[in-house]
Amino acid sequence: MSIIVNQNSLYNAPFFQEMIETTTNLYRLGWDERNGGNISYLLHEYELLPFMNVDHVLRTVPMNFDATPLAGKYFIVTGSGKYFKNVKRDPAENIGIIRIAEDGGSYDILWGFESGGVATSELPTHLMNHIQRLTVDPNHRVIMHCHATHLLAMTFTHSLQEEDFTKTLWEMCTECIVVFPDGVGVVPWIIPGTNAIGEATATKMKETRLVLWPHHGVFGAGTTMDEVFGLIETAEKAAEVYTIVCAQGGKKQTITDQQLFDLARAFHVSPREGILKL
Ligand code: 13P
Ligand code: ZN
Repeated sequence: MSIIVNQNSLYNAPFFQEMIETTTNLYRLGWDERNGGNISYLLHEYELLPFMNVDHVLRTVPMNFDATPLAGKYFIVTGSGKYFKNVKRDPAENIGIIRIAEDGGSYDILWGFESGGVATSELPTHLMNHIQRLTVDPNHRVIMHCHATHLLAMTFTHSLQEEDFTKTLWEMCTECIVVFPDGVGVVPWIIPGTNAIGEATATKMKETRLVLWPHHGVFGAGTTMDEVFGLIETAEKAAEVYTIVCAQGGKKQTITDQQLFDLARAFHVSPREGILKL
């Protein structure tokens, strides 16, 4: 008896597997409880064509903001109210593939979101961030949001000044300044799911690929799923170390500004201006 594997199943597509692995990992790490978190991944049409008929539209969903710069673009995206815990078991229920309409005012669902689901409630922030990052990075493709535990906790106990927050994270692990030399942006507390929080986040995304939502979570941006996951993971690890350092009674010594500067130079990265005092 031979087992027939359908090579052209969407489930075998590399981007689809990445989406499943990443949502599963985010859940495993405890950063996406219940329906917490969302991911959108910009896809090329040629990546989809071997797996599906992109002319077959299942449903069209209106949006109340202008996504014209993304007209015709495809995304695989997590569903609103869907649990990352369940993505692997039932992808068609929990994630979907969409295309932004030509007038930028709606999106077509091409696959997934079974049982009447729609894309994440944070779609305004995701699409505004994609628009912003594509203007500064033509290879940009991924926006990821999660409720990373220690970063979230730090927004209660640490100064929310971006320079202070960035400096503390850089100090907590030697590799941080190399992974995110552009530092972290911080927006004010704003109601999630709104255009207002999307606009505030996208403004920060001009300068940085990591943006904190105080008392809520973090957004990351980048060219691959691994890169964005790694970016959030590195910042979250630094926040965890900070938490432990505080619990152990606070710093007795640290990486100096001169050492951070030397590190950046050795790794050929330009640290965000105004943080290191030399
Ligand atoms: P969604 O379920 O709509 O993606 O919302 C989750 C979330 O984290 C809101 O910020
Ligand atoms: Zn959230």
